Order: sequence, then C-alpha cells, then structure tokens
Amino acid sequence: MLLGVTGGVAAYKACFLTRLLSGAGAEVQVVMTGAAARFVGPDTFAALSGRPVYTELWDDPGSVLHVRLAREAEVAVVAPATANVLAKLAVGIADDLLTSTLLEARCPLVVAPAMHTGMWEQPATRANVATLLERGVRVVGPATGPLAHGDEGVGRLAEPEEILAAVEEAAAHGRDLAGRRLVVTAGPTWEPIDPVRFVGNRSTGRMGFAVAKEAWDRGADVTLVVGPGTVEPPAGPRLVRVTTAEEMRAAVLAAAEGADAVVMAAAVADFRPERVAGAKLKKEAGPPELRLVPTPDILSELGAARSGRVLVGFAAETDDLEGGGRAKLDAKGLDLLVVNEVGRPGTGFGSDTNHAAILSATGEDSPLREWTKRELAAALCDRIAALLAR
Ligand code: C5P
Repeated sequence: MLLGVTGGVAAYKACFLTRLLSGAGAEVQVVMTGAAARFVGPDTFAALSGRPVYTELWDDPGSVLHVRLAREAEVAVVAPATANVLAKLAVGIADDLLTSTLLEARCPLVVAPAMHTGMWEQPATRANVATLLERGVRVVGPATGPLAHGDEGVGRLAEPEEILAAVEEAAAHGRDLAGRRLVVTAGPTWEPIDPVRFVGNRSTGRMGFAVAKEAWDRGADVTLVVGPGTVEPPAGPRLVRVTTAEEMRAAVLAAAEGADAVVMAAAVADFRPERVAGAKLKKEAGPPELRLVPTPDILSELGAARSGRVLVGFAAETDDLEGGGRAKLDAKGLDLLVVNEVGRPGTGFGSDTNHAAILSATGEDSPLREWTKRELAAALCDRIAALLAR
C-alpha cells in the first residue's frame, strides 16, 4: 500500500501510522513531498517501513516511478494531507511524485487532513473536500484539539488507529469487482412524437452514474448506456449514448453479451407514440391524438434469457413499495431490485438522495431508508460482488 506524507507538523504521527500499518500486515511504500521531508527525515520512514522512501519523480531511474507505484498500490492513504495537496487532488494537479502517483492510481484513496482551523474552514478547502468525497475518496478527520503554535481547534490529524480502520475498510472494498464486466444504464429515454417533440421523464442519470462510478472504482470494466439530457457522466466507463427505449435495448443487449452483471438504473419509457410524424406537427392543426404503444421491456428480456448474469432493476413507486417491488423482481427474473419512493419532496429524480429499499431474490432485503446515491451504489456493488463470488 502507498502512504503519502505531506508537509505538516503532524508528519511525525505518520511514523506511528507506518508502524500500525506494517503491524497489520501491510507492505508500506512511503512517498513524501519535499515539505514533509523538512519535518521528518525520509530515513525514519525507511527504517520503519523497511523500504526505500521516495520523494522525487526521478528517484528510481530504472522505472517510470509514479506509474510503477500507482500500479503496485492496492490502497493509498495521504496522512497528513495538507490543504495544498487536497486542492491538487481535487483539480488533478500532478507536479511532484506523490500527486503524479495519485493521479495515475485507480486504487481506493483515504485522506487524513491536518491543518490550521482557518485553512480547514476556507470555502476553497470545503469545496475541495466535497469534490473528493463526491468522487468516493474517504476522508478521515480532522479532529478538534491542540494544533501547532499552541493553537486549539479543528484541524488536528485523526488518530493513527482511526486512519488504519479507514484504510482497512477501503482495502476490503478496494477492487472486489476487478476482472468483472458490468453494463449500467442511466437516464431517461425520449420517445419522439415528431422531429422536435418527445415523451420523456425526469430522470437525470445520477443514480446510474453513481453505480457506474462505484463499479469502475472497484476495478470493473463498465459499459455505461446513457439516455439523453442527463448530467455529466463520470469519467472512466465506456459510454454508449442512446435516445429511445429501442436504441437502449439494442445497446444493452450488445453490451450484455459476456457481461457478468447488468444494472438497469435507467428510467426507460414504458410507452412510445405509435407513429412518429416526419415533419413538425403544426399547432394550427390542433392538438394531435397520441396513441401510445408499449416499448420492449429490456430487463424482462434479459431475465427470460437466464444467462447466469446478475440482473439488477430499479423501480420507482409512489405506494406499496415493497409489495410492488417484490412482484416486479419476480416477474422480471431479477437478482436484486431497488425500489425507490418517488413523488416525495427531496428524494428520487434529480436529488442526491433516494428513499429506497433493496430487495433480493434470496430474501436478504435492506429495508426502506434514506440513502445518498453513492451509499446506495456502494451497497449494490457489495451485493453484486458477493453474488458473483458464489
Ligand atoms: O416495470 P418498470 O418500468 O417499473 O420497471 C423498472 C425497471 O425495468 C428499471 O430497472 C428499468 O430500467 C427497467 N425497464 C426496462 N425496459 C423497459 C422499462 C423498464 O428494462 N421498457
């Protein structure tokens, strides 16, 4: 594992952390910034870790050091993490060995910030931390207590035991989907009425994007089939853009070939206009009669194929969530179904949280509660990984 030490007086506590990590069985590769090396000498970390400590991109002429270190790391922790390094991580600056390694790395990342209260409370730092959290970085601390220069307040490095616990948790979930192929759908579909009008829904894609990102972070090869008008999809997964349910069906069936799991988070339209006008319908001609016909049910088609793939569906319901959800899970032949409550303020479409339950074909359900989309995505990936490991 990689331990990044950056330039704060709390760097001395990283010595204790190194011992704890080694004691827990980790091979600790320490990378220090130049500023950190002014607080604690690299030789101290070398002695504690039993490995050479690197500070510069050119410290190992025989390899492309930041690439090698990034590939070797199963988990990375930065402790202490200064406001400066948090800012660099948030925007992707790679101007030294540590930040270059972390930009290249795909492993889970834990950061333990330590700084004076003023720096921690700056809107810029708050925004950087929020960005990192949103990307799935685990942030431990800071704690409140004595700081350098005899000051007191929030900004103290979390205790090494607490950092160790976060690293162990990150490592456990780290790459449990490595070598797996997932297909994830997100967003609405738009079913055309004429060249400018369509029948659609309010889905923004956020839920599917959270699942795709989580699976990608955990090492999966992810194909993300995205409907129109969504928010910005996450970087990483292979993107396939579609507009209608029929196009989504074709994209999903093609990508599902050889996939280990399909997660249908998209709000696929259930009906489409039977006829699509070739030219824009004129207002002067009066309101058109729209006759709707069903779209193909992609999940049911996959469920009927019984291919051994893990199949996950989503259902948006306004009442009898668990009853309606269970019926859908059975009818579509699914392994897991997330039932979402829609229609209550602050949850569901467009929001960051979902009031939802996870139903499972084996009856191990997670009861209805409030989740952030990221938490829900993580819980789904836990269950998918467990089903695939059977
Ligand atoms: O039956 P209902 O539309 O509520 O089911 C929702 C689930 O089925 C979602 O996972 C959705 O992505 C999927 N679905 C589908 N094809 C459709 C409609 C919904 O795969 N035509």
